[in-house]
Amino acid sequence: MTETVLLIGGGGREHAIARALAGDCTLYACASVRNPGIRRLAEGFETISETDTEAIAAFATDIDADLAVIGPESALEAGVADALDDAGVYAFGPRAEEARLETDKAYQRRFMRDADVPGCPDFAVFDDTDAACDYIDASDGDLAVKPAGLTGGKGVKVIGDQVTADEAKAYLQASDYDRVVLEERLVGEEFTVQAFVANGEFRATPAVQDHKRAYEGDEGPNTGGMGSYSDTSPSLPFMREGDYDAALDVIEAVVEALPAYKGVLYGQFMSTATGPKVVEFNARFGDPEAMNTLPVLETSLIDVVTAARDDDPLPAIDVSGAATVCKYAVPQGYPTDPDSGARIAVDEESAGDALLYYASVDERDDGLYTTTSRSFAVVGRGDSIEAAEAEASEALAAAGDRVRIREDIGTQALLDRRVTHMRELRE
Ligand code: AMP
Ligand code: GLY
Repeated sequence: MTETVLLIGGGGREHAIARALAGDCTLYACASVRNPGIRRLAEGFETISETDTEAIAAFATDIDADLAVIGPESALEAGVADALDDAGVYAFGPRAEEARLETDKAYQRRFMRDADVPGCPDFAVFDDTDAACDYIDASDGDLAVKPAGLTGGKGVKVIGDQVTADEAKAYLQASDYDRVVLEERLVGEEFTVQAFVANGEFRATPAVQDHKRAYEGDEGPNTGGMGSYSDTSPSLPFMREGDYDAALDVIEAVVEALPAYKGVLYGQFMSTATGPKVVEFNARFGDPEAMNTLPVLETSLIDVVTAARDDDPLPAIDVSGAATVCKYAVPQGYPTDPDSGARIAVDEESAGDALLYYASVDERDDGLYTTTSRSFAVVGRGDSIEAAEAEASEALAAAGDRVRIREDIGTQALLDRRVTHMRELRE
């Protein structure tokens, strides 16, 4: 019997989830924006806001869904998993309570402290801006300033890296965040490990490195993520032996402390001179990281999610062993002053062997156009990160100059810089 699956979300991450599921189930999707890639893979696509819990549960019931997969954090925060579970449709995604691991950074740090999850930086929580500013004054700087709620990855300011202490205080004064977390600034290189979680068990996938900064050389403002790479092994070139296993220990501790957690658990780690520390958790696949992980998955995603639903042991996760490089094409000026309305000149055919994933595009009669968000991503695969990078770059050659790409992601020069950075920190 083929399962009927409802996918919630319409970005690049969800296009990758759709592709991983499409051949193995009857797929329906809903999202606030129409993603042409998902639409082509799905039997039906409804325009429904990702946070409209009632409409999503009603659509799931209409199509007689056997289960649902939730992509975006906004849906988790709104309680879409709760609404679907209550409607009798198993949701692969945590309920709002467990999703607080991502949606409330103050909860996240207190949870780590109380549950003895390793890798927690020193932190303090403030619901008063003046007190937070006093704390910044009293510290020697070197703090990360984090609004407690969701900010699309763009709310964090790191003192001594992106801003000065005075700028951080001005930022807090000018914003109206209810609560902020101030924490030890972690120094090193970041990596992501995503795991499938259900019924108190987890299955991890290879590490990925995302690039949050807008411009080459990690300059400029933070973005939703400009691209990412993964290697032929579960680890990454700058990581030390033991780092990946330390990340798995963290994930294991979270799963033990949250036995009701289901869905994807995403750990963002800083590989520091003294081992990995936790930057944050997300309660879903990363975007772009899903586009590195899902194309190399040899275990069927449908087998993972049905095992989760049926309370069966999760299948072992086999991966192809290919390295991957994902590069996003974003509108010129993104993220601060994005220029929309540029015709998209890359399609699945012109991408060749690389994979193409649509994110935010405007579908008009004569083609696809950019909006103000990330437009599309390509993923190259190969027997080395360099080979995967070459495949991705070739696919982007036709992209034109009204979109911007971080050319440096996955290049040997950038990999070498990361390795050198970590070597210097460990000396
Ligand atoms: P988040 O919204 O938690 O993903 O944070 C966005 C980015 O801010 C992370 O990817 C890191 O680059 C940076 N960041 C967050 N927390 C810290 C920290 N404690 N130390 C250094 N950088 C951090
Ligand atoms: N790649 C960062 C995120 O998905 O939040």
